[in-house]
Amino acid sequence: MLPGTAPPAEREIALRGGEITDGVVRVGGTVRRPVGPSAPAIHALLRHLPSAGFDRAPRFLGLDERGREILTFIPGEAATRPLPAHAVGDDSLVALARLLRRFHDASAGFPAEAYSWGPGSNDDLPPEVVGHCDVTPDNVVFRGGLPYALIDFDLARPTTRLFDVVTTLRHWAPVADPVDRDPLQRGLDVGARLRLFCDEYGVPRRDRRRLLDLARLRFDRSYANMRLRAVTDGGAWARMWAQGAGERIRRARAWLDAHEDEIQARLR
Ligand SMILES: Nc1ncnc2c1ncn2[C@@H]1O[C@H](COP(=O)(O)OP(=O)(O)OP(=O)(O)O)[C@@H](O)[C@H]1O
Ligand SMILES: [Mg+2]
Repeated sequence: MLPGTAPPAEREIALRGGEITDGVVRVGGTVRRPVGPSAPAIHALLRHLPSAGFDRAPRFLGLDERGREILTFIPGEAATRPLPAHAVGDDSLVALARLLRRFHDASAGFPAEAYSWGPGSNDDLPPEVVGHCDVTPDNVVFRGGLPYALIDFDLARPTTRLFDVVTTLRHWAPVADPVDRDPLQRGLDVGARLRLFCDEYGVPRRDRRRLLDLARLRFDRSYANMRLRAVTDGGAWARMWAQGAGERIRRARAWLDAHEDEIQARLR
């Protein structure tokens, strides 16, 4: 660099993945994201995780001059739709179950009650952990074809382990009507995948017994919550609702009811 010249401003590269957060960019080895109301809680959680032995989430490095959060960029690939074969395979499901278990074991020791968290549907039982509550394929970074890290903690909140398991399985088993599944997910044996995930996570028997009831409760509450946010928050929530998010939840719930017996048989 010539004496007296300023270093070039680092280039901002737009990152596209999910649907909610506009303005997510990569700057060198960092990601910059606009912050929401529960940012203090999420930042404290991200600071806690490495000290609890969980290094599979971005590190929080502070706020930049524009008030955006600065997170470490985790090399790898988030899965985008249409999902590739490795993202829908059993090996990925196994790795994801172990990753979620490690995350929960680390978040269980976080003093969540000291913070204020965002809204969202939830379990009725007392919280056991801080759940991610949005483990979709585009919020997981893959390495070598397997889930490696969790990103995008915007919806994290205190909940039960089982609630976060159910939320994750909604997308990954997936608990969805075949017409709404990604092409490579259509032929999957959902009951067998629920079982595999529960085995790898270590979901105890008493929780397996209430898994489908909790999935139904979550569908009903998510439906009401999304409908409300489409009106109160507008933006991407309104767009998702207009594009049929509510109908997809209804179809998933009906599909679950129609296949309850065979799924229960697999889970037992
Ligand atoms: N820390 C990170 N490391 C690596 N990649 C990241 C990181 N943060 C974001 N990305 C990439 O950017 C994409 C979008 O980021 P993010 O998930 O944070 O926002 P979003 O998807 O727009 O929000 P939402 O999921 O709430 O709709 C991700 O799917 C991923 O590909
Ligand atoms: Mg995302």
